[in-house]
Amino acid sequence: MTYATIARDHLPALLARMPKAELHIHIEGSLEPELIFALAEKNGITLSYPNVEALRAAYAFTDLQSFLDLYYAGASVLIDEDDFYRMSMAYFARAHADHIVHAELFFDPQTHTERGVPMGAVIEGLARACADAKAQYGISASLILCFLRHLSEESAFDTLEAALPYRAHFIGVGLDSGERGNPPEKFSRVFAKCRALGLRIVAHAGEEGPPAYIESALDVLQVERIDHGVRCSEDTKLVQRLAATRMPLTVCPLSNVKLCVFKTMQEHNLATLLHAGLCITINSDDPAYFGGYLLTNFKAVFEALPQLNAQDAWQLARNSIDASFAPEADKECWRAALDQVFVDRALANA
Ligand code: HPA
Ligand code: ZN
Repeated sequence: MTYATIARDHLPALLARMPKAELHIHIEGSLEPELIFALAEKNGITLSYPNVEALRAAYAFTDLQSFLDLYYAGASVLIDEDDFYRMSMAYFARAHADHIVHAELFFDPQTHTERGVPMGAVIEGLARACADAKAQYGISASLILCFLRHLSEESAFDTLEAALPYRAHFIGVGLDSGERGNPPEKFSRVFAKCRALGLRIVAHAGEEGPPAYIESALDVLQVERIDHGVRCSEDTKLVQRLAATRMPLTVCPLSNVKLCVFKTMQEHNLATLLHAGLCITINSDDPAYFGGYLLTNFKAVFEALPQLNAQDAWQLARNSIDASFAPEADKECWRAALDQVFVDRALANA
């Protein structure tokens, strides 16, 4: 069945109702200014902004680094296990409202352990929230530990070792933070160890960094998904390779515009890549900083790119399920639920 003929007026309702997986969300990037101030007060931390409005007003970024400076400052209010739990539960409430059925949460342990926060407080707080997301909302959630690429590979090894007592609580590892000058191959040995441990492998590449970083994430780190990857379009051969292998790209449209990777949403290459056969997914990245959660990202994309239709909406949701690391039996249930939403709409139209 094709859904291409469903009228565009139905898109907002379809985008909201369709079951979706979110595969690229930094949980520290879901800290809203209100919660940053509440946690700062609870933990006796003085922020360099007088109030919520002043902090929000500072969210005018020129590039990735200008965002990361604020993002790490915001995360400094997280001190104990319950802080990590509260932050994550606030995200899951939003995820549920957006009809997210599965979420894979990135977290940055080095941001916290470098401030003296124990690894156990970070991971146990996040893991408790993942369990409660399932119990309260029926959301399946898992954790992906990210190494900060502006730090050394030795620091990544130390982080991995500190996290291994909590191995049952995370499914994989990723690579984030400032991309320029920090290519994937800087972390070749630690990722080899992670692969040997049976961890799932992803990495940010081709957000601000060149197409060569996408290639080394594939060839050296042997990733199973590329986070962002939008700069692949500068290399035709690479685009062909990504399409032929159906390598998933976790694209974050509002993030890309906020961090000036694209000047406007109209200029975003997501529709072009999707129509070239790449396994594109839509994600929120750091929703508290970039102007919206997952559904807001979907709506912004479909408003700005008139070449996208209901078939594309179905494909994007389907890609998110297919590209997730969830068990196959769960994926089958979500695929059937997704099809039902579109079949119902198509039949109502007929
Ligand atoms: N890119 C790299 N590192 C990050 C990001 C991002 O978009 N968000 C949080 N850490
Ligand atoms: Zn990211």
